[in-house]
Amino acid sequence: MGSHGRDLSALPQIQPTDGPRDCTLLRPVTPPSPLRGFSSLLQTAPLVSRLVLTGALLTACKPSPPSEQPSDPARAPATVAAAAQNQPLKPASAFASITDPAARSVALFTEAGRVIAHPRCTNCHPSDGVPRQGMDLRLHVPTVSGGPDGHGVAGLPCASCHQAANTPLLGATLPSVPGHPKWALAPAQMAWVGKSLGHICAQLKDPHRNGGKTLSEIHHHMAEDTLVGWAWNPGPGRDPAPGTQASFGELIKAWIDTGAHCPAP
Ligand code: HEC
Ligand code: HEC
Repeated sequence: MGSHGRDLSALPQIQPTDGPRDCTLLRPVTPPSPLRGFSSLLQTAPLVSRLVLTGALLTACKPSPPSEQPSDPARAPATVAAAAQNQPLKPASAFASITDPAARSVALFTEAGRVIAHPRCTNCHPSDGVPRQGMDLRLHVPTVSGGPDGHGVAGLPCASCHQAANTPLLGATLPSVPGHPKWALAPAQMAWVGKSLGHICAQLKDPHRNGGKTLSEIHHHMAEDTLVGWAWNPGPGRDPAPGTQASFGELIKAWIDTGAHCPAP
């Protein structure tokens, strides 16, 4: 180190563990006071600088390997094993041989559940108001809150970083920032993170917890909503949900047509 001829002892002493992985300053819960400076920068800076700032922030804050993470119930594993996530989605017709309609219904929902439990969906459906990121459902960096309407808190709305479309090109660390005009966090009563498929299924059918939707409206939302559709077009650096939105919609339709039976909770 001395070969550069600089007296490094004059610099503040930083322990290796306090280096790029220390994200504590970026992880306050609400209101995120250390983020205020960052958020006002984000609001006043033009888009390119905002993305550079965001990129710099995230580069400076690489997540630690899982073994070093403190145990945190909020980081509950997805309900579908990672290995199964890349298998193609089976078409609804693949279940025609199951003669008992209730059993067929459960099998159809279980297959559709590979989409529902995929991180591309669940990252926006937590119960604690904090979005998740990546395939490991790690807490969003910086820690943001969905706020009263899911669009973030005053001073740090989702839209200050999430544009109307995926924004590519932040380099290897962050290939893109996801985007959609309706980008927001789902309300807590629609939470899927850490819940079993049977629980999610019952919740989806309950008008008190599904936004007052009928089953037909649930099908329409799953099959047609463009924010749901983002999961199959998530931008560079992110795995899409399995299958297509159309094939997922057909599974949901067939599940409803067979009585909308749920797997055991
Ligand atoms: C300060 C900038 C910033 C703000 C504010 C912000 N995000 Fe993000 N968000 C990002 C970046 C950058 C990524 C991409 C990180 C990555 O892929 O590793 C991201 C990723 C995500 C993802 C992960 C998508 C996936 O499946 O991988 C979700 C979900 C998300 N944000 C939701 C939200 C919501 C909801 C809000 C508002 C309540 C919000 N974000 C506010 C910067 C921000
Ligand atoms: C960017 C965040 C985001 C992503 C990604 C996302 N959702 Fe949502 N979801 C929401 C929000 C916000 C609502 C509530 C507003 C609404 O109903 O449109 C919601 C509501 C829903 C509902 C309504 C009823 C209920 O009981 O939950 C369904 C169904 C749903 N989402 C399915 C999905 C599926 C399936 C995926 C993945 C293929 C997905 N969502 C991905 C944000 C998201």
